[in-house]
Amino acid sequence: MSVIVLPEKPLVDGQTALRPWREADIAALVVACRDPEIPRWTRVPENYGEADAQAYMRQRRDEIRTGASAPFAIVAAADDRLLGSVSLMRIDWEHARAEVGYWLAREARGQGHVTRAVRLICEYGFATLGLDRIELLAATGNAASQRVASRCGFIREAVLRSYMRGKHGRQDMVAFGLLAGSRGASGPRATSAPGATSRPGATSRPGASSPGASSPRAASRRASSGRAGRSRAGSQRRPE
Ligand SMILES: CC(C)(COP(=O)(O)OP(=O)(O)OC[C@H]1O[C@@H](n2cnc3c(N)ncnc32)[C@H](O)[C@@H]1OP(=O)(O)O)[C@@H](O)C(=O)NCCC(=O)NCCS
Repeated sequence: MSVIVLPEKPLVDGQTALRPWREADIAALVVACRDPEIPRWTRVPENYGEADAQAYMRQRRDEIRTGASAPFAIVAAADDRLLGSVSLMRIDWEHARAEVGYWLAREARGQGHVTRAVRLICEYGFATLGLDRIELLAATGNAASQRVASRCGFIREAVLRSYMRGKHGRQDMVAFGLLAGSRGASGPRATSAPGATSRPGATSRPGASSPGASSPRAASRRASSGRAGRSRAGSQRRPE
């Protein structure tokens, strides 16, 4: 069984920081998720309450333990105030890919926090987890989220018709993809073209000195596995 070890030090870009969730976030989590825009576009339940927040914390812990996801709280770098959520989820170790999901509390929107958060978590996913591809699915009606995808360098690849059950019926989703080494990902930009799959120097990833990569536990995990993520291929239990 694989365990994801989240970085001990926050991942920081300007006023935005990512860190593991804490029990102390529950009150702010409940307030944020009562904004109907969050359940409208995400899997967050409607009429969010403390029991939902407790369940969320439990699920995140389980998913970290089984290597199914890497969830972070988005917080203000200055005072650790909860701003939102960003996760690499449905991690598929065999194919070295994951999906990124996010939301921001209403008052934190329009300030660039989610753009910085998505860039940080993608850098972490490529450099530390060893992912090769990160996907982003936004509902066809969610213009703000599609703008976030484009701003972060994701390429629009397809519309997935009737892809999932939304809160108000079946939902078409726009699928975006970001490849390791591509424009918008960390480090030198090799290519941004959809369909480009090869990346020179897969074992010498840019960003190896990122905060996540430099944590002692991440370093010892890399030392024992050669390349984080790769060694788990084949042995990783398929998430969800
Ligand atoms: C998606 C979300 C995180 C974006 O946060 P944000 O970046 O702070 O949002 P902004 O207000 O800066 O808007 C982002 C962009 O979308 C545009 N936008 C916002 N609302 C829009 C709308 N209703 N129609 C069209 N464009 C819109 C903004 O003008 C901005 O464009 P720009 O990059 O050209 O400046 C936030 O809206 C949110 O939490 N929504 C609810 C949860 C959610 O949708 N999660 C994503 C699920 S895939």
